[in-house]
Amino acid sequence: MAGITDLPFRIICKELGVDILYSEMLSSTGLNFTLQKNLEFVNSNKHDFPLFIQLFGNNPEHFALATNIIDKLPSIEKLGTKIGPRRPEGIDINFGCPVKKVMKQESGCALMRNPENAYEIIKAVVDNTTLPVSIKIRAGIDNVSAFDFLGKVAPLDWKTLMIHGRTFKKGFSGEIDCNLIKEIKEKYPERKIIANGGIFTPEKAKEILEKTNADGLGIARGCLGNPWLFSQIKEYFETGNYSTPTISEIKKVALKHCELIQKYKGKNQIVEMRKHLGWYFKGFPDAKKYRQELYTIESIEDVRNIISKL
Ligand SMILES: Cc1cc2nc3c(=O)[nH]c(=O)nc-3n(C[C@H](O)[C@H](O)[C@H](O)COP(=O)(O)O)c2cc1C
Repeated sequence: MAGITDLPFRIICKELGVDILYSEMLSSTGLNFTLQKNLEFVNSNKHDFPLFIQLFGNNPEHFALATNIIDKLPSIEKLGTKIGPRRPEGIDINFGCPVKKVMKQESGCALMRNPENAYEIIKAVVDNTTLPVSIKIRAGIDNVSAFDFLGKVAPLDWKTLMIHGRTFKKGFSGEIDCNLIKEIKEKYPERKIIANGGIFTPEKAKEILEKTNADGLGIARGCLGNPWLFSQIKEYFETGNYSTPTISEIKKVALKHCELIQKYKGKNQIVEMRKHLGWYFKGFPDAKKYRQELYTIESIEDVRNIISKL
């Protein structure tokens, strides 16, 4: 998730049970022109594993060059305890983003309308790395269904498909199309299919996994302020029950998240925590009263002060 799944948040999610991490989307074009600045987006360390770096863009040549750059990054072993860009465990390509700015550049979900260019993009990535390649699509756009799109790119050696089971038109609301995902899994049994969309509870995770027969689940908004969702889902699948974090656990994780942001992104980046704090403490008895304060924090001391009152 752009603006969300940076290194600090990925570490938090990893500690709370996530299996595979995805970076924020990274511009394949930007990577070619301002390498250093763009690589900061994918800073990583040994706790941030396994990691897929997600690329977006619309120019196959830029994807080829970006893939080359990523493929030659230092290995996780070489990185050791340092932080920096590193060779990930996989590369993902974005064909699902509906944001206007991205669509205008014929990137993201707009590429589902142009499977010929999408084909060239996937080929450029697959041909320039030995890393596994995954693709992220939506259920469809206009009169192009996920099936039409996949039919065109099926000859290429991508290994995993994450499908957001809502069409472009549906945006981010409404139920996902579980039947479609199930049919895709039946048609492409040799590929790993990950179902995404609307998973906010362990019960929903179970329902979607059963209805789609997918190999895995992709969680986005459900983990905002609730990174416990990953371990809750696992616990629910194993035991039929799951525990909810206590108030002091939530405070502890929120503070750790602040510390990680300061450590890995710099002290003044603590302001990035404002939105996360709003999510962590949503629903707390006094949250409304303190929401405004949480949105104006300037330091970790401010955070400590406010949450001690919650
Ligand atoms: C703030 C935000 C940022 C997102 N950024 C990305 C992104 O960079 N790449 C991507 O593939 N999807 C991105 N998405 C879409 C999600 O990955 C996901 O497909 C979508 O939100 C549906 O899942 P959900 O219902 O679990 O949120 C983003 C969604 C949100 C809300």
